Amino acid sequence: MDKIVVQGGSPLSGSIPIAGAKNACLALMPATLLSEEPLTLTNAPRLSDIRTMTTLLQSLGAEVSLMQDGKVLALSSHGADNPVADYEIVRKMRASNLVLGPLLARHGEAVVSLPGGCAIGARPMDIHVAAMEALGAKVDLRDGYLHASAPGGLKGAVVELRFASVGATENTVMAATLAKGTTVLKNAAREPEIVDLVRCLRAMGAQIEGEGTATITIQGVDRLHGATHKVVADRIELGTYMLAPAIAGGEVELLGGDLDLLGAFCEKLDEAGISVTPTAHGIKVARKNGRVSAVDVVTEIFPGFPTDLQAQMMALLCTADGVSVLEEKIFENRFMHAPELTRMGANIEVHGGTATVTGVPFLKGAPVMATDLRASVSLILAGLAAEGETVVNRVYHLDRGYERVEDKLRACGAKIERVSE
Ligand code: UD1
Repeated sequence: MDKIVVQGGSPLSGSIPIAGAKNACLALMPATLLSEEPLTLTNAPRLSDIRTMTTLLQSLGAEVSLMQDGKVLALSSHGADNPVADYEIVRKMRASNLVLGPLLARHGEAVVSLPGGCAIGARPMDIHVAAMEALGAKVDLRDGYLHASAPGGLKGAVVELRFASVGATENTVMAATLAKGTTVLKNAAREPEIVDLVRCLRAMGAQIEGEGTATITIQGVDRLHGATHKVVADRIELGTYMLAPAIAGGEVELLGGDLDLLGAFCEKLDEAGISVTPTAHGIKVARKNGRVSAVDVVTEIFPGFPTDLQAQMMALLCTADGVSVLEEKIFENRFMHAPELTRMGANIEVHGGTATVTGVPFLKGAPVMATDLRASVSLILAGLAAEGETVVNRVYHLDRGYERVEDKLRACGAKIERVSE
């Protein structure tokens, strides 16, 4: 398995292009199941999670071709006739559950494996199931699979989510596009990836209003047609690379990406003493003064501070001046990077969903283990500033969500390489 070796201590200088959003693309790809006509996605990120979704859709009978080195995905569900999402694929990636709504809408039937355990918490499916039931589906759990059926088709309804789940919102919106009548989805998630999905569905002929707010209204239509859609830029990749010069020093220009989608995160960076300046093609990020200041962070649903940037932010705060408190409110077990950062000399105490980070003057390189996607990149960021060598083991998580991370950082002067074993 590959590992990433980082020699810390080189300030960064250069530019990094921001790719299309993994989480948007993973929701957009299953939308192909809603139409007989082709769907083309441009600005797709080249990631192993995208390959997993490709394999899943192909197993359902869809055609997926990767063009332009994987940046363009040509999808067609003309011959898709299999409603069964197999455990062997679903267990690799929770986002596989995003075929549930489209399969039900298309076939009146969906058999989708439960994703199983996940490093960052239980991540159940109850909100998805309740929403499908509200649309008239009958859902049973048998042999580890959700068996959902709506022989007469789905029916529009008022659906209120008990929590604004991103995935459940996406499944419900997709399912409701072909339901009979109107669906009013309340307590919907407002993440930009949902807005991107709705834009694509609208281009396919869906009638949807209210995306980006807590109430989304979907007027069912008889059929959707083909479309071409450009995947929104990855706000989490943008935030991650904004933290690179904040941690390692120097100045980096980030090309593309939308700062407006990172409001709460940018406020915290400003408070910590990081400057963000617009340029002709993006933004430049650098530290304002020497050491960054401690800040408190609470992860929240959008537009709050994203849970997907919590681990990377913790890496920054390990060497901040003062004590920072990070509260994780979205996932119950998302501090697995804390003991690894502690091995690098950080002073972190975790109690339940709260981590208290007392800044130390510097971190020291160490062999560390990546336990999930965002944790693994946080360890790389920490390694950029640490004294000596950091070896991040088990980096397959990284490849799920970051396109060529070592190339992008090396282009900015980081001493980083991938070692295959
Ligand atoms: C999506 C993102 C993920 C991000 C998360 C929160 C994708 C592919 N992934 O994941 O990167 O960290 O949003 O912003 O877009 N929950 C339930 N029951 C359910 C569904 C969810 O209890 O049926 C809980 C989860 O366990 C979790 C919380 O709700 O604690 C948030 O989950 P959700 O918003 O659904 O996240 P995902 O869509 O899985």
